[in-house]
Amino acid sequence: MRLIIVGCGSIGSKLAQAADGMEEVTRIYLIDAVRPLAEELAAKLNKASVVDSVEDELYHADLVIEAASQEAAKEVAMVTVNRGVDIMIMSVGALVDDEYREAFFEKAKQTAAKIYVPSGAIAGTDALRAAHIDELESVELITTKGPKSLAHVKYCEDNNIDVNKYDSPTVIYNGTAREAVKDFPKNINVAATVSLLGVGFDRTHVKIILDPAATVNSHELRIRGKFGEMVCHTYNLPSPDNPKTSYLASLSAISALKRIIRKQWIGI
Ligand SMILES: NC(=O)c1ccc[n+]([C@@H]2O[C@H](COP(=O)([O-])OP(=O)(O)OC[C@H]3O[C@@H](n4cnc5c(N)ncnc54)[C@H](O)[C@@H]3O)[C@@H](O)[C@H]2O)c1
Repeated sequence: MRLIIVGCGSIGSKLAQAADGMEEVTRIYLIDAVRPLAEELAAKLNKASVVDSVEDELYHADLVIEAASQEAAKEVAMVTVNRGVDIMIMSVGALVDDEYREAFFEKAKQTAAKIYVPSGAIAGTDALRAAHIDELESVELITTKGPKSLAHVKYCEDNNIDVNKYDSPTVIYNGTAREAVKDFPKNINVAATVSLLGVGFDRTHVKIILDPAATVNSHELRIRGKFGEMVCHTYNLPSPDNPKTSYLASLSAISALKRIIRKQWIGI
């Protein structure tokens, strides 16, 4: 399998390193807006080289993996499925735009390209996916983060929230997943994943708590419906190289790639 990885940051670099060791992966093309980052990563790998454009490389790629930003995801996703190539998306918040998402899904259907969205930094998505087959009464996500994870977020700056000035856990956002994904584009991709699997962006409720003492990024997923009730709590350690990203997100991307390659769908 030949991969194009877009974004060589925290997730992209761990994924590329893991892919380099998979015998089924024959070639890895790396792209980063900061080219030296891609070059530095390629130098550590056996199967990787740096390229400039996804579009130009699609003719010899089997899977594009986006691990860059919402903007990059939107840009790359449509181009990729348009050519019938499969795509994995980590910046799931890019799919909040209904018109874009529907056009993207429709195009993939036409070209038979597959779309993969790993569970990322949250657990419980398996049950949500199954429960959604029947009626769901409520889906709520309560996310708790420390000041480092929420530093330099535009929503905080616009609302005069000084993340270092709190001395007890405080709710800084309480609303729909749709607004949360737009207001916290780098922090709450899991809200988009949960919305896509369940009751959508407008009916999924999100609460974000800033806890000055938090050492983990935690996600509490609460769902209620015809199946019963589920409360699933994930306590994520941040990635050492990016406090906004939970390490589990990188592991989830690697595990998704393994499932795709091996075509084994346990716990599907
Ligand atoms: N699905 C999830 O659960 C989940 C969890 C954590 C992070 N994420 C998202 O995954 C993405 C990657 O996360 P990360 O922690 O690796 O981020 P990161 O900041 O460590 O790395 C992102 C890299 O992408 C590059 N980049 C940005 N825009 C680009 C573009 N248009 N083209 C090419 N390269 C570009 C940057 O230079 C950077 O090197 C982010 O959007 C993040 O919000 C998703």
